[in-house]
Amino acid sequence: MSLVVAGVGKSYGGRVVLKDVSFQVGPHEFVCILGHSGCGKSTLLNLIAGFIQPDQGEILVDGVPVRGPDKSRGVVFQDHALFPWYTVLQNVEFGPSVRGLPKGEVRAQAFRYLRMVGLEAYADDYPHQLSGGMKQRIGIARALANEPDILLMDEPFGALDILTREMMQRELLRIWLELKTMVLFVTHSIGEAVYLADKILVLKNGRLAAEYLLDEPRPRSAAHPRLLELRADIERLLLEEEDPGEGGNLVHETRDSGRRVVPF
Ligand SMILES: Nc1ncnc2c1ncn2[C@@H]1O[C@H](COP(=O)(O)OP(=O)(O)OP(=O)(O)O)[C@@H](O)[C@H]1O
Ligand SMILES: [Mg+2]
Repeated sequence: MSLVVAGVGKSYGGRVVLKDVSFQVGPHEFVCILGHSGCGKSTLLNLIAGFIQPDQGEILVDGVPVRGPDKSRGVVFQDHALFPWYTVLQNVEFGPSVRGLPKGEVRAQAFRYLRMVGLEAYADDYPHQLSGGMKQRIGIARALANEPDILLMDEPFGALDILTREMMQRELLRIWLELKTMVLFVTHSIGEAVYLADKILVLKNGRLAAEYLLDEPRPRSAAHPRLLELRADIERLLLEEEDPGEGGNLVHETRDSGRRVVPF
């Protein structure tokens, strides 16, 4: 499974939201997409999901252009978007049953992923009976129940308190290690990106400003000097007024795209 985003541009009503965005993701890579509010992160994720189409460039999954949504790309939304009139179990069963799997298989699949997020005991509850973190875990189980090759997550932990958020980050890494899917995870938290990612894509004003490659082993400590250095570097980049200038010695300019590729 590979994802190629090639020269993608998107405008709304004449206003450019994404401009010439190009990057590639390999199988089982964990990519974080980082940037200020309004820089185009959700737009980029929605393009990859196939909910919207690019004006320029193309998005290829295993060499095939994305033309619309597909179960091979699962989406987890910030507000979890569960069906309130369905139980937890019915929410997770939704995808597999729409796909027409036999009833027994649908149930087995739903329970497998409910177990994975630690909530099988809540199968018969309704979403309103759960906490925010639990709803978010159901949202993840629901996306996983379709067994996607690519998991697209749009600030999934944005609304959670810090302790729940850290627990969810650890859980997500555990699930990712088990399932070996590709993950694209949108966040505006530099700390979250540095903790989770193999690769961090920094979006600035609709352009890909930098691509950081991290090979730091997991589990990672937030206090690790290299990670602190990386956080400071990304913070500088995001605070710079104009496009990336001469940055620190971690930075390698790539001539063709103007973006910075930083092996870390
Ligand atoms: N359907 C739309 N119609 C018009 N403008 C849109 C639409 N979707 C997004 N935009 C605009 O595109 C820009 C980027 O939006 P996007 O939602 O991608 O940002 P974001 O990086 O996800 O921000 P946030 O961190 O706040 O979620 C914003 O200025 C937004 O107003
Ligand atoms: Mg967004």
